[in-house]
Amino acid sequence: MSAAPLILGIESSCDETGVGIVRGTELLANTVSTSMEQHVRFGGVIPEIAARAHLETMIPTLQQALDTAGVTLDDVDALAVTSGPGLSGALMVGVAAAKALAVATGKPLYAINHLVAHVGVGVLDGGELPENLGALLVSGGHTEILKVNDLTSDVELLGQTIDDAAGEAYDKVARLLGLGYPGGPAIDRIASEGNPKAIRFPRGLTMPKFVGTADAPGKHRYDFSFSGLKTAVARSVEQYQAKGIEVPVADIAASFQEAVVDVVTKKAVMACTEHGLTNLLLGGGVAANSRLRELLAARCASAGITLRVPKPSLCTDNGAMIAALASQLVSAGIAPTGLGFATDPGQPVTQISLPAA
Ligand code: KG4
Ligand code: ZN
Repeated sequence: MSAAPLILGIESSCDETGVGIVRGTELLANTVSTSMEQHVRFGGVIPEIAARAHLETMIPTLQQALDTAGVTLDDVDALAVTSGPGLSGALMVGVAAAKALAVATGKPLYAINHLVAHVGVGVLDGGELPENLGALLVSGGHTEILKVNDLTSDVELLGQTIDDAAGEAYDKVARLLGLGYPGGPAIDRIASEGNPKAIRFPRGLTMPKFVGTADAPGKHRYDFSFSGLKTAVARSVEQYQAKGIEVPVADIAASFQEAVVDVVTKKAVMACTEHGLTNLLLGGGVAANSRLRELLAARCASAGITLRVPKPSLCTDNGAMIAALASQLVSAGIAPTGLGFATDPGQPVTQISLPAA
């Protein structure tokens, strides 16, 4: 029997330039270069700056991944790249690099869905993915609940944010509180010194008219909204300032975090329970959040759901997740995309890889 296929994956949908190499479900290299430092003074990712950074770091990142894995481009069986969703200019750099490699080497190329790859990466840490699998993705760019019927052919979107992503809300609120960027880790840290019940911030899209019942679901039963929460935090800060009272940063951070984590975990568990999903995979940069992990673990345990959280370096954006999903597509006999495709910044989660043109 021949060895499992060697796959090289490229990720450039946001501010991480990632090149990962896997053999089957074995991780050989996961090299990531981030342009986060260049976005700090803006308090959020600036697409044009991210795209330029990808251009500068793509070749060195590729070289380092190959060195780490101890392989050459010649050894690679297939190439894979994120085609979407993500920032248009940023995606284009990765796709151009992947197409150039495919032309130069003659290797097959897969155009991969970034969101589904956040789930596919699970095989690299903890082995084969279970049946009846749901996924909760929370990062600076996305907040989704997915139902994974078959990772290589059938993924459904159950719910998503209708405005800001969860991580984006963390970043914006951190800025309001003067905590710097990225806001998630800063809020996570200071929240541990505050009272999560100090202020009751709004839980977006939890009113009965949005949620409905299991039999008669509301329009936004599994959806999220964080922009009202962000505004409520801003009003709260203003009120303290107007009264000349010192802003209780730790209490506000803890109360904000509780509002985010409460809704995210409640809706994810509800979606799993109502769809017979007995396993849940958590992915995205916000998966690093201590309170999210704690509350999600507790609520999953009470609901009889087995929670799976890949190690942090596989939860944040990286190239190994792209390679890992492509590896499973190769094993499932799915045809490569080839060269005739464009980036799709709004690629739906149902489009796991782009078909050949
Ligand atoms: O997945 P990721 O590295 O990149 C994308 O946004 O796709 O996620 C980065 C996001 C940022 O918004 C950051 O503030 C958030 O993840 N984050 C956290 C924590 N660590 C990172 N949010 C809450 N708590 C954390 N500990
Ligand atoms: Zn991501």
